[in-house]
Amino acid sequence: MYREGQATAIQRADYSAPAYWIDTVDLCFDLDPAKTRVLNRMFLRRNPEVPAQPLKLDGDELNLARVLVNGQGTSFKIEGTQLVLDNLPDAFELEIFTTCCPAKNTKLMGLYVSNDSFFTQCEAEGFRRITYFLDRPDVMASYSVTLRADKAKYPVLLSNGNLVAHGPLEDGRHFAKWVDPHRKPCYLFALVAGQLVAREQRILSRAGKEHLLQVYVRAGDLDKTEHAMNSLMHAVAWDEARFGLALDLERFMIVATSDFNMGAMENKGLNIFNTKYVLANQATATDTDYSNIESVVGHEYFHNWTGDRVTCRDWFQLSLKEGLTVFRDQEFSQDLAGEASARAVKRIEDVRLLRTAQFPEDAGPMAHPVRPDSYIEINNFYTVTVYEKGAEVVRMMQTLVGRAGFARGLTLYFERHDGHAVTCDDFAQAIADANPGSALATLLPQFKRWYSQAGTPRLHASGTYDAQARTYTLAVSQSCPPTPGQPPKEPFVIPMGVGLLGQDGQELPLQLAGEAAPVPGQRTLVITQATETLTFVGVDAEPVPSILRGFTAPVVLEFDYSDAQLLTLLAHDSDPFNRWEAGQRLALRRAIKSIAATAYPAGATALDDAYIEAMRSVLRHPLLDAAFKELVLTLPSETYIAEQLDVVDPQRIHAVREAMRAQLAHALADDWQWAYETHRDSGAYRPDPVSSGRRALAGMALANLCLVAQGSGPSASSGQASVWPGKAYQRFKDAGNMTDRLNALSALVSSGHALAAQALPRFHALFKDDALVLDKWFALQAGAPDRDGNVLPAVRQLMKHPDFTLRNPNRARSLIFSYCSANPGGFHRADAAGYVFWSERVMELDGFNPQVAARLARALDRWTKLAEPYRSAAREAIVRVAAKPDLSNDVREVVSRALA
Ligand code: PHE
Ligand code: ZN
Repeated sequence: MYREGQATAIQRADYSAPAYWIDTVDLCFDLDPAKTRVLNRMFLRRNPEVPAQPLKLDGDELNLARVLVNGQGTSFKIEGTQLVLDNLPDAFELEIFTTCCPAKNTKLMGLYVSNDSFFTQCEAEGFRRITYFLDRPDVMASYSVTLRADKAKYPVLLSNGNLVAHGPLEDGRHFAKWVDPHRKPCYLFALVAGQLVAREQRILSRAGKEHLLQVYVRAGDLDKTEHAMNSLMHAVAWDEARFGLALDLERFMIVATSDFNMGAMENKGLNIFNTKYVLANQATATDTDYSNIESVVGHEYFHNWTGDRVTCRDWFQLSLKEGLTVFRDQEFSQDLAGEASARAVKRIEDVRLLRTAQFPEDAGPMAHPVRPDSYIEINNFYTVTVYEKGAEVVRMMQTLVGRAGFARGLTLYFERHDGHAVTCDDFAQAIADANPGSALATLLPQFKRWYSQAGTPRLHASGTYDAQARTYTLAVSQSCPPTPGQPPKEPFVIPMGVGLLGQDGQELPLQLAGEAAPVPGQRTLVITQATETLTFVGVDAEPVPSILRGFTAPVVLEFDYSDAQLLTLLAHDSDPFNRWEAGQRLALRRAIKSIAATAYPAGATALDDAYIEAMRSVLRHPLLDAAFKELVLTLPSETYIAEQLDVVDPQRIHAVREAMRAQLAHALADDWQWAYETHRDSGAYRPDPVSSGRRALAGMALANLCLVAQGSGPSASSGQASVWPGKAYQRFKDAGNMTDRLNALSALVSSGHALAAQALPRFHALFKDDALVLDKWFALQAGAPDRDGNVLPAVRQLMKHPDFTLRNPNRARSLIFSYCSANPGGFHRADAAGYVFWSERVMELDGFNPQVAARLARALDRWTKLAEPYRSAAREAIVRVAAKPDLSNDVREVVSRALA
């Protein structure tokens, strides 16, 4: 087998149009797990716009049997992984016959077998593992596909588009022929074959067209498809209502598989999903699962326009479809959530993800612009930067042109580019051109720095009140730290939501110097310079500024708030995002102070009365939603705290945060009890924002009450507190839904109570046949708060459990990633054993699934910030991985950037 040498980086600047176009592709598959035969008949045409050159087709792990040009044998060369043909006519038919082995495809890219069914995954470069092709997104072709397979083993045969013929063949085989009416890049090709059943739904579009929606799963899972189907129907209706984008297919299919590297895939008309984002019923799925399913189903459906109808010219433009589609799925979920407060909860959750995952990425060795300039392995660039920061960039555009203006921009984008493969520049241009005179149109070249410059900008603000002049002046400056390959940065365009509160918490009308009259309520100011001053006039007393309301830009806001100001914002800000943010700042400040204190005696108090009383008022507040309360009362994560520090001692952060958690549990014990009693029953199960918010707050209360019972201190010793673990255990046994059940189990596990040891095996016994629930069981144990280093031995033990396998990506994520990437207190051990474990698993995974291995490799991205002895030990572990001789390009890119 050919092995590539040291892989070289691909540069965005090197883009050139393809030498040939592929107009039609006729694929014929004889499906067999051990040896699938693929006949590929294509019509190609020389691209007259580029100099004549040989045709170079990509291939990977294929066995080539025959190549015909216009029906005649021809000479060809294999150069590396490419099939090279020279002396070709300007237009010709090319026939390629290859075989591959789906059963041995452990990378889950290309054609593979999962639970005796066939699935494909072609994005980004998996199609070349199916046949030789111009495997690049700017080559768009019309596909027809014939599938042939054993009828008993593979009764269902699916591909993109419409079913045009099907019937029996000899020897118990059968066939199905599919024709996709839309041209598409090969990364959107898909086929599925197996024993599957479907939930079906016929719908009428606004225009009166009928469509068939199908959700395919394994027999036995049909009762878990209702929510996915409902989400799909909502998504279809929403895209028509909000953006005028209708379903362009007679049939739209979703198929679930339990072996999948990612979340889901938007193949044209045949979305393939990780079961995690399809299957749900109240007994097995949590509220979080329900809401994830809704957004992922929406996300993949929205790709039908933003991704499939208009696609990416090259993979550097990935955020063109991903940033935009994440933005669309976020808006979808917000619109479905309904009320303003539920929308705000969703916004806070999205920002929390951005800040705990994307900000660290943007500050680490893998930092890259939303539109990267180079990569070695494109799979490594399906990142929170391309997705979530990309979505924030699209959101800023909407902020700058308004909601209606943005919808106009999207319409223009499709008028201009439907059916084409385009760039991020094309997108931004369309939004700007549809809104002449807008801040976006005026500032477009500068705005596009969000696509080209990596790193999280810092927005520093300070306020001065002049009582005599009745003015309040905000001095604002921006800067952006250097990132790999980008030392200096130019200023960004930063939309900044601002409001001013009076000392009593009332919103003040805003009037900037030079303006004729005050404007009530908040407004969005646009910062473009490195430093700027904004003067508000007619201000009667020193106000409390509420800056970056709604998180209008993906920046770090630095403002030297006093505790009193933060308490005012927490109590009164009309912007729910900043209200939450004020609580986070109060907690963060206390955490950082305790971490820095030279001696931090066990049991010392990090939280003062003012903070505790503020939290009590939020918890007891008569008007706030339960979901919002739960967010405010959740302390900043260890990862987020770590990002605020120059030198990170993960054990110290863990100890301080645990102490804060315990203190909040004790100090509010009565309030937690009240919260539990008043929120525990939410009636018949429905995963809507209101009742899931109630369950979240009840779950948090129960966890706190169990913590009180476990800990020391006055409330623990009273008989009162000690009943809670027993109540949690009872709740765990009786719960009518998975959210309450898992919350109760998690309360026992995270408080370290002995009853956890009874509950865990019971949970396993109840759900031993449900893979997705077993994933939760593994994840809960791997993510448990570490006590004296107990988590790693438990994880090692769980690896030996008969239900554990590293081969299934969901299972690997549930145990290994939950430990290495989501449990800093357990992972960063002074004895380096966590890092040793990490290096072993990265290398083991790399042997069969480099894409998943490279994700795990990212767990040590931030090693240079660690204090000793962690830093040296982490480096040693990375060096050990880097030294492995036959490492994949995927993992090599990650570890070499980490060590650079
Ligand atoms: N394009 C998919 C999505 O965002 C993600 C994906 C990438 C899935 C690569 C599989 C492989 O929706
Ligand atoms: Zn996507």
